[in-house]
Amino acid sequence: DKGGWPSFMAKEVSEEPEAVANTLRGRVRDGQIVIPELDGLDELFVGIDRVIVIACGTAAYAGQVGKYALEQWTRVPVDVELAHEFRYRDPVIGPNTLIVSISQSGETMDTLMAVKYARERGARTLSICNTQGATIPRESDAIIYTHAGPEVAVASTKAFVAQITALYLLALHVARVRGSISATEVAQHVLELEAIPDKISQILEREQSRIEQFAHWMADTRSVLFLGRHVGYPIALEGALKLKEISYIHAEGFAAGELKHGPIALIEPGQPVFVIVPSPRESSELHKKVVSNIQEIRARGARVIVIAEEGDAAVLPFADEVLRIPLAGPFFEPLLAVVPLHIFAMGLATAKGLDVDQPRNLAKSVTVE
Ligand code: M6R
Repeated sequence: DKGGWPSFMAKEVSEEPEAVANTLRGRVRDGQIVIPELDGLDELFVGIDRVIVIACGTAAYAGQVGKYALEQWTRVPVDVELAHEFRYRDPVIGPNTLIVSISQSGETMDTLMAVKYARERGARTLSICNTQGATIPRESDAIIYTHAGPEVAVASTKAFVAQITALYLLALHVARVRGSISATEVAQHVLELEAIPDKISQILEREQSRIEQFAHWMADTRSVLFLGRHVGYPIALEGALKLKEISYIHAEGFAAGELKHGPIALIEPGQPVFVIVPSPRESSELHKKVVSNIQEIRARGARVIVIAEEGDAAVLPFADEVLRIPLAGPFFEPLLAVVPLHIFAMGLATAKGLDVDQPRNLAKSVTVE
């Protein structure tokens, strides 16, 4: 049931605030993380020397976002690997490796086979999954369910923000078990997380119709580029994937720092480029670097659409469009910055008259390798 929305995707984007709130619900007590599913499983996190996050598509981008916080808070090295690449290269894993798989459906064959492979080699496995009783969580030592609710549209949206939320809960929990973070720090991060649902709602209220309108104007665009840095980089990849998936437009995401190493050659007058700008308060150095990237592409005629936090005036002279997101801590920005990109992809596909829920050639759940 679309509940009055024109598509399941529209409904599911509107549910992004609840997806985060429901994933947090029952897992925070007195400002600390309590994950009932992980009760009695501390042993799983003691003595690990490596974490490998395994997933495909959007779930892998959630993993890439989560990597920064997981590594920072737990001080354990974290790699993110596409499930279908992982098992074909004799990876170095063993009893001290924690494999974190992420899957909305819990049935993605590539991810399932990678989890089984790791388990057979003695690794510890934890599954982040949105579907109760699915195969991947059943094949894992531990589960954290995302409570995004059923996701019907092929393009994953609310599951993505729920996956990042679950990864942050996991990261804070593991960091406490391992003693690498203080209770005070956890409490600060929890406050940030708890504020996210309202902030996403603000973006939907303030920016949705404006984004849809300019997506409409851009209906004839043939290529869109996305740039981001640090946690904004996987968000750029996610923005590009969503656009190609449902609007069939060529789209590519780049790490902003890579520009000079090749991609800047793509910039010609009129080329639309989305840039996810880091917070000037939280990471002034990265902010400066990204603003200078914006100047470089603008000087070559790019049409620059900036996603920047409220009050960031440094971007104004160089942007054709500015999409504002509320203030958030450095690890939490991606949960906000992705929302305009989901709206944009949906708006553009709608403007082209495409079926946003059932894009050609794709299935919601990829159960073959
Ligand atoms: O069910 P899963 O999370 O394992 O699915 C993984 C990918 O197939 C999925 O995220 C895909 O990339 C989406 N259609 C992206 O919107």
